[in-house]
Amino acid sequence: MSILLKNIGKLLNPRSDGTWDEISQAAISFDDKVLRYGPEAAMISKAGDAEIIDAGGKLVTPGLVDSHTHVAFAEPRQAEFEMRNAGKSYQEIAAAGGGIRSSVRSLRAISEDELVERILPRLNTFLQYGVTTIEAKSGYGLSTEHELKQLRALKSCAERHPIDIYRTLLAAHEVPDEYRDNRAKYLDIVINETIPAAAEAGLATFCDVFCEEGVYSVDESRRVLVAAKAHGLIPKIHADQLSYSGGAELAAEMSAASAEHLDYISDAGIRQMADAGVVFCLLPGAVIFLGLDRYPAARKIIATGGQIALSTDFNPGSSATQNLPLMMTLGCVFCKLTIREALWAATYGGAAALKCTDWTGSLNLDQAADLVIWNCDDERLIPYYFGVNLVQDVYKSGRLVVKDGKLLA
Ligand code: NIG
Ligand code: FE
Repeated sequence: MSILLKNIGKLLNPRSDGTWDEISQAAISFDDKVLRYGPEAAMISKAGDAEIIDAGGKLVTPGLVDSHTHVAFAEPRQAEFEMRNAGKSYQEIAAAGGGIRSSVRSLRAISEDELVERILPRLNTFLQYGVTTIEAKSGYGLSTEHELKQLRALKSCAERHPIDIYRTLLAAHEVPDEYRDNRAKYLDIVINETIPAAAEAGLATFCDVFCEEGVYSVDESRRVLVAAKAHGLIPKIHADQLSYSGGAELAAEMSAASAEHLDYISDAGIRQMADAGVVFCLLPGAVIFLGLDRYPAARKIIATGGQIALSTDFNPGSSATQNLPLMMTLGCVFCKLTIREALWAATYGGAAALKCTDWTGSLNLDQAADLVIWNCDDERLIPYYFGVNLVQDVYKSGRLVVKDGKLLA
């Protein structure tokens, strides 16, 4: 049976070109997919036997898409947060054996089943923030065995939870403890063993690499992504996060789906990525949480014709938040996105970064019925009340999963 959601004060549907279809006093009908939407009067006359639900004059948008998360971790790293606030940098903590490598030790110590139990409640939190689709990376295993364990755990979670999860292999996230003096050997394992195994088992859609001074160079990153493409995985790159590395130019060269962070991107990188249609995935949560102050040049990116996605980067080190609406606030305040641009980046832009715009991120005919009823009638209030969750109800593939801010069983 289908649902007709009526009395929508404002319905906002993002278009691919960055503009919006905007209807006041609207209605939308859907089963598991969107059937149609339009002005309420015309919709009600065609309601048929649909169940009619009153949206109370509130704002309706597509479900949010968080296109960059590291949700599959074992333990939080709150001690590092304290150390940073006392003056240590993210890189100093990493060089001393903390950071990603600390998450690797804790992840290797727990079973796949235990990892599933730790991820599931985090997926609930995403839903409560209006996020109906996420990307999730491995990268805390750093061995074929434990990288695949992470990806399988994510797959099991998706089978048990309404959220859609796009999986990314990030075996080149760091150099693990046991290969610190033979990094070439670890890279060989990633290229010749981990990537083929993940692809063969159908465990990942994307392959990411942390291209950064002190982690993987542009040449090493290229080798990883060339291998990934040869095995049918779509490239993504953590690029130009803490310093300029040339990762954005590599993303363009590799026709990556997206490049991530980009706080130090060059003008040439912006141009090349925009020309190549690589999505600019901006993660302002990581900038603020690391105590840094260099944000990506969003205005320049938009002026160059680039498509922006805004994401949480949810992870235990650099961005311990799942609040994607809050990332809209940071995007507006620090990257000078307009509110509509920020909302576009958290819906359509996120889907573009995951190459799933024909499935979610907007409310067009035959898309998954992923939508949010907000507890307001004006989208400007979403980033305005920063840190506050204005999500009222969430439908995922047509099913009510959050009501009045509370998760339904
Ligand atoms: O996107 N930059 C690399 N990876 C993550 C941080 C991961 C961690 O510190 O655990 C990021 O910021
Ligand atoms: Fe990340």
